[in-house]
Amino acid sequence: MTQTPKFHADKDLSDEEKSEKALVPEFEKIISLKEYELEQTLKNALDSFNNLNIAQSAKEFRKIANDLKLMELLITDKGKHNNKNSLNDLTGKQWLQHTKSWVIIDGKSGDISKQIKNHPASYPPSLAEYFISYFTKAGGWVFDPFMGIGSTAQAALMTKRNCFGIELNPEYAKFTRERIQKSIDDILKINVFTGDSRKSFKIWKENNIPPIDFVITSPPYWNMLKKSRGGVKSKQKQRIEQGFDEDYGNSKFDLGNIDDLSQYLDSLVNIFKDFKKILKPKAHIMIILQNCRTKEGKMEPLAWNFALKMGKHYKLLQEFIWLQDQKFMGIWGWPTTYVSNVHHHYCLVFQNL
Ligand SMILES: C[S@@+](CC[C@H](N)C(=O)[O-])C[C@H]1O[C@@H](n2cnc3c(N)ncnc32)[C@H](O)[C@@H]1O
Repeated sequence: MTQTPKFHADKDLSDEEKSEKALVPEFEKIISLKEYELEQTLKNALDSFNNLNIAQSAKEFRKIANDLKLMELLITDKGKHNNKNSLNDLTGKQWLQHTKSWVIIDGKSGDISKQIKNHPASYPPSLAEYFISYFTKAGGWVFDPFMGIGSTAQAALMTKRNCFGIELNPEYAKFTRERIQKSIDDILKINVFTGDSRKSFKIWKENNIPPIDFVITSPPYWNMLKKSRGGVKSKQKQRIEQGFDEDYGNSKFDLGNIDDLSQYLDSLVNIFKDFKKILKPKAHIMIILQNCRTKEGKMEPLAWNFALKMGKHYKLLQEFIWLQDQKFMGIWGWPTTYVSNVHHHYCLVFQNL
């Protein structure tokens, strides 16, 4: 479909944005293709609606909303850069968007590889990209001490930042190295180490890594992956049946194997406390955690308790809420007990002062 797009990309664009647009090789074609898809989806959505297939209609309308958002990003004015911006490379408009205290980001569950599915709790690289773009400038250093299968490293590459990562499980670290190999260039450095993040300072020093601008990570959420909810067929049981890892392994160094909650929290805080030696002054730290539900049905305010303890060493700045809209829903307590599907995570932001 190569008709002239209705939406004109050059309208109201600054010179800088026009040159950015030139970097997208087939810009006009993308727009015109999107227009065509949009018309088709809109037709399907209305047909489904008229046939009273509301679920299908809602799905089609959601797709339209997402596509419009993408077109908006391509077409609309992105705002102005300010030379005094010392935090990131965003324009004022982009900066403003990032300051909303919640964000909905879903992974692309359909097309991810078996190795990515094998890790029980990875976050989508787009989540890390979102925050890396806000808390660093291109060429800065990002650190993930619980690297998993390297979503942070992938995001660092996409946003042209350097990355230092540590992961205890050698299989996950190996996969991360393979995952980034294809896209790495001569300028960026992505250093992935197999090891215990309690040794972060040593690894950082021995490998001459520069001071860190931003830490983004999600540590094991205590021992939650070890706890089956029982009753209704749990996600853990399904993962075992499908041959995927249901936790990160049995290493005594794995924070997810500490049963005692206050011991877990202290170990975690001690690891981060030690980062003072490797962080730039004023560097930000984002730690992604959830509150948990114990087997007895009690909510354990893990993220909140961690924030309080960590706040004694770093300035607690904010919480962002990361929402997952498309995540698998379990009918856990049905038909007798209230058990919610927890589809939000706390992205806690601290600053090194
Ligand atoms: C929630 S996952 C991180 C997933 C990662 N954000 C990603 O998207 O792939 C936590 C990771 O911490 C690792 N881990 C647990 N204890 C560790 C330790 N002491 N040092 C380094 N890594 C550890 C686990 O093996 C697991 O892969």
